[in-house]
Amino acid sequence: MGAFPGTIHFTGLNTPVGIEASVRNLDVIGVIPPEVQGAFFRAVPDPAVPPKFADEIALSGDGMVARFLIENGAVDYDIRFVHTARYEAEKTARKALFGRYRNPFTDDASVAGVDRTVANTTPIWHAGRLFMTKEDGLPYEVNPHTLETVGRWNYHGALRSETMTAHARIDPATGEMFFFGYEAGGLCTTDIAYCVADKDGNLVSEQWFQQPYCSTIHDFAITQTRAVFPIFPTTANLDRLKAGGAHWAHQQDLESWVAIMPRHGKVDEIRWFKGPKGVSAFHIVNAFDEGDRVHLDLCLSDTCAFPFMREAGGVVWEGPLGGGLIRWTFDLSKPGESFEQQPLGPPGDMPRLRDADQGRPYRSAWYLSMNPQGGPPLPGGPVGVAFNALFRIEPGNGRLEMMGLEPGMGINEPVHVPAAAPDHDGWLLMVVDRQTGENAFESELWVVDAGRVHEGPVARVKIPLKTRAQVHGWWVPAADLAQSRHQA
Ligand SMILES: [Fe+2]
Repeated sequence: MGAFPGTIHFTGLNTPVGIEASVRNLDVIGVIPPEVQGAFFRAVPDPAVPPKFADEIALSGDGMVARFLIENGAVDYDIRFVHTARYEAEKTARKALFGRYRNPFTDDASVAGVDRTVANTTPIWHAGRLFMTKEDGLPYEVNPHTLETVGRWNYHGALRSETMTAHARIDPATGEMFFFGYEAGGLCTTDIAYCVADKDGNLVSEQWFQQPYCSTIHDFAITQTRAVFPIFPTTANLDRLKAGGAHWAHQQDLESWVAIMPRHGKVDEIRWFKGPKGVSAFHIVNAFDEGDRVHLDLCLSDTCAFPFMREAGGVVWEGPLGGGLIRWTFDLSKPGESFEQQPLGPPGDMPRLRDADQGRPYRSAWYLSMNPQGGPPLPGGPVGVAFNALFRIEPGNGRLEMMGLEPGMGINEPVHVPAAAPDHDGWLLMVVDRQTGENAFESELWVVDAGRVHEGPVARVKIPLKTRAQVHGWWVPAADLAQSRHQA
């Protein structure tokens, strides 16, 4: 087996770890609030073998599912590989058989037709099942107690789409899960599958429609009555893939689009709105109705945040990305393709919302950003630099609070744990990294009062192992974990 490349995708916080482990009773400094009982699942991409090509990127790392299990103030930690078909094939071969990021034309002939997803983006809990997801394929179900892989999930054969998003939306009142898959009919197709699973996890609706061009639709939103699909001009091209090139190339001169439809309606009811050229958003904070008006709050940037997607599209971008937390408002009572735009907050990403606020007007949300006093950011994560500040924002009045970190620290996306008291904002759990030497890092799990983020953590939990940069996480309360379809 060869060595990992010395690029940003395999150094810093992206240094491969690949250790499956279980540790009980981690050291807790401070007190974890008694109402924080459950499991914090994390998706951690970690390549089990060095890549075929030295220019491979962090997003191709094999999915690992990590879990902090919190019970009466004590914390256990577990991390396991997701046993995808790809992981199994490369484990047997003891080398990489799959080639470039989302380009099957660069694979070994021996794995032609083998599922190439790495299930490394978001752990999703719905109807008693835990899924590890990545938008280029179907999810893999994981036993939430043992972290063993159950298998590829396609709703008992009912789902026709070849893909499923890593950003599903669950209505807190009905328990329904709304999701979609793009490239649903295959590589570089414009097919989008829009799907609904009921509260018991049955697929009750799958409808397909076409997007204007084949773009990476990373996230979408629901309101209490509508589904909202934002489409940004980072596009795929089959000829480029066949030539061994990049899956995604950002096109700065192409318009963005937003599709809005009744969430239980038909796809032929979609209204299309045309947005600014060249903009990009990977994550949406929330959306909600105000009569005929639909508000969509998103982490928007003036160009694509991924340098390799800009480079593939020939986009030269000097200096920081412009943009911010932005509200787009669509008036469905009026004809036409235009909409309003209003700034809400400073730039950032990895937003977190209370589950109970999904699709509804909301008072506060949280997202990650850069602290100007935080020193140079740590190297690592999907875009190459780690965030070093946590914001709490009240979009209604612009109130903003920050938990800044000391220089040499980085922060991963938080999960939210609701509080029992109605006037309490709840708790945020997140992994915080600190550089301790050249390419050496230590990590802790922090518990923060979600209404008082500027005060910093109320509890810190030492993680006695190296950990690679996380993508997304998911909180599963203990009561829901007890309803799992699988045994411990
Ligand atoms: Fe994401």
